[in-house]
Amino acid sequence: MGAGKSTIGAALAERLGRPFVDVDREIESVQPIAQIFAQEGETAFRIREAKHALDTLGARSPSVIALGGGAVATPRIRAALREHALTVLVEIDPEEAWRRVGGSDRPLAQDEAAFRTLYEERRLLYAEAADATASDVEAAVLAAGGVHVESGALARLGELVPGHGPTELVADAHVAGIYGMEAQLALGTRNRATHEVPAGEEAKTTRVLERLWRDLRLERGGTLVALGGGSTTDLAGLAAATYLRGIAWVAVPTTLVGQVDAAFGGKTAIDLPEGKNLVGAFHWPTRTVLDPALLATLPEAEVANGRAELVKTGLLAGEPLWELPLGDAVRRCAAFKTAICLRDPHDLAERRQLNLGHTFAHALEAAAGYELPHGRGVALGLLAALRLSGLDTHVVERELRPERVTVDRELAWRALARDKKAEGGVPRLVLLEAPGRPRLGVELPPAEVRVALDALIAG
Ligand SMILES: NC(=O)c1ccc[n+]([C@@H]2O[C@H](COP(=O)([O-])OP(=O)(O)OC[C@H]3O[C@@H](n4cnc5c(N)ncnc54)[C@H](O)[C@@H]3O)[C@@H](O)[C@H]2O)c1
Ligand SMILES: [Zn+2]
Repeated sequence: MGAGKSTIGAALAERLGRPFVDVDREIESVQPIAQIFAQEGETAFRIREAKHALDTLGARSPSVIALGGGAVATPRIRAALREHALTVLVEIDPEEAWRRVGGSDRPLAQDEAAFRTLYEERRLLYAEAADATASDVEAAVLAAGGVHVESGALARLGELVPGHGPTELVADAHVAGIYGMEAQLALGTRNRATHEVPAGEEAKTTRVLERLWRDLRLERGGTLVALGGGSTTDLAGLAAATYLRGIAWVAVPTTLVGQVDAAFGGKTAIDLPEGKNLVGAFHWPTRTVLDPALLATLPEAEVANGRAELVKTGLLAGEPLWELPLGDAVRRCAAFKTAICLRDPHDLAERRQLNLGHTFAHALEAAAGYELPHGRGVALGLLAALRLSGLDTHVVERELRPERVTVDRELAWRALARDKKAEGGVPRLVLLEAPGRPRLGVELPPAEVRVALDALIAG
């Protein structure tokens, strides 16, 4: 009571693009709650509450529901929450709650001692019903996406992997050397095996995927835990999507690219000789554990790759996320991408905005025979996207210091026209109306696009 469920709930519904149902308000729209309590008693109120809650929880299309503070005392509501919902507890201490609602017209907030007793009684029920806790909308978005952000979380990995079933850990040899032991200790006896895969893009091949499939011993109730950068999470996520027709997986990203981008949203993939990420699946991790402390050992070149995605996200969000301390920036990027992916999980519409700058980046990377670091490609791609949008490019220049690359212009142009997003040879671009206002599927005259591409190439 008084925790701000209605406010956070409404904001969350908007962020997730889902309807919002406030059960107390629905009841109020027929008759004031104080009057129901006074005339018919609490039981009559609980019956109405249960009807509204169960109708909404059982509905086919999902919504965000704010439940009154006493709703979880009704066993049928608790059961429906377990079956249909992800339940987020909006925490508040009793002093603050009483300050907000004490003496209002709420029937159960008339007497402070009784209010505190109620708070204590409900505390256990809340802890049991809650899948996650949150005190602001961002935390609620992260909870909805299964993302847990905590510095030092690796040490608690055993508790953070949902369920109690066995796990197998996947890491590249380098990451395993730094964090493998701590991860295994944290998973304890749950962990049945650890699989080492090649570092970097070399992990994303059919050969490595087959090796992993054949080495896995997990059964359907097991969980694959991927500890590493985007290469490891892309590979392990695809292994989890396909092994035994799909098992649960948990992503523990150790690179900045992973923490701001690759480890959530459920896209997994490997490469083919014909191109990158050509075989994959949408398979959401049951949890993504973001531990910013893991970034301390990341080489500078890898940090630079991640900063490019961070600046991209800031431009899309219309907020200077690059100015925040790294841990805060990671959390904000994670919440931003998670919300978009929850709204458009299969990349059919607005999720495509995450390709900002990437059409150019991919073309340059392909022309460079994939020798160009992705972050350098993205930095240049963002520059081109801002120029074509008619926007100021200072931020990208200052934050990412893009350097023109030496590649064959013709090769780059052909790669750009072949891009997945191209239709009939005309690339469809993501541009910005303004920071925070992406425009999708923009078709420009090919000559104009070519000039923008050429400006990224040296010589
Ligand atoms: N699925 C998605 O939505 C998505 C999004 C973006 C990128 N990706 C994919 O991610 C891949 C790139 O991943 P990446 O940039 O995270 O790098 P990566 O996984 O290729 O790792 C890069 C290097 O960093 C090392 N490393 C990782 N964590 C470390 C740490 N904490 N300390 C020291 N060294 C560490 C690794 O051993 C490796 O050598 C690409 O294949 C890309 O396609 C996927
Ligand atoms: Zn990228």
